[in-house]
Amino acid sequence: QDQNQGFWAKYGNYFIRGAIYTLIFAALTVFFGTIIGTLLALMKLSRNWLAKAIANVYIEFIRGTPLLVQAFIVFFGTQILGLDLSAFIAGAIAMAINSGAYVAEIIRGGINSVPVGQTEAARSLGLHQRQAMRYVILPQAMKNIWPALGNEFVTDIKESSVLSVIGATELMFEGTVVQGASFKPFLPLVVVAIFYFIMTFTLSRLLRLIEKRFN
Ligand code: ARG
Repeated sequence: QDQNQGFWAKYGNYFIRGAIYTLIFAALTVFFGTIIGTLLALMKLSRNWLAKAIANVYIEFIRGTPLLVQAFIVFFGTQILGLDLSAFIAGAIAMAINSGAYVAEIIRGGINSVPVGQTEAARSLGLHQRQAMRYVILPQAMKNIWPALGNEFVTDIKESSVLSVIGATELMFEGTVVQGASFKPFLPLVVVAIFYFIMTFTLSRLLRLIEKRFN
């Protein structure tokens, strides 16, 4: 008992600091991932074959390779290019690149889930393609897109743990630091797991509340 109190007094700050960085990574990832994903989805839905092809290759390649490998590639690849990015920046870039591919499919799926009849009805009422998309399709698509983006946020909280391999400060990384400093291999991981769970559980509850408000 006494020993465990000492553990928390000594290392509690590491976990809290790590959790804060994890949330920062997740927030940055949803933000930039949504921007990249929206662009990719528009490219994929466009009639320009080149834009389509680029988006397809991006999405397939990113989803077909592990985030672990992508994080290393961004971190060391930018070093080879002469850029001296911190692990934080490299990690944030890798996460945004990765998440963008998944968000693209979320958005494309959301748009495609709206029946064609909706477009036809809007067009027959005299709306242009663009107006139909903006005022008829997108508002309906958002119903499917919002919850999926929320899930992506939760996923990003967990996936950012991968960034510990490039030495980016976040919860998992801080856990390994505490393992080394305390000579305890197990306890820090339990604390890390509990912290992840608190964050994902709280966030998904919050998102469900917001969702209910929407409906
Ligand atoms: N675990 C997957 C990988 O190693 C990453 C999944 C990321 N998923 C996401 N929705 N952002 O590639």
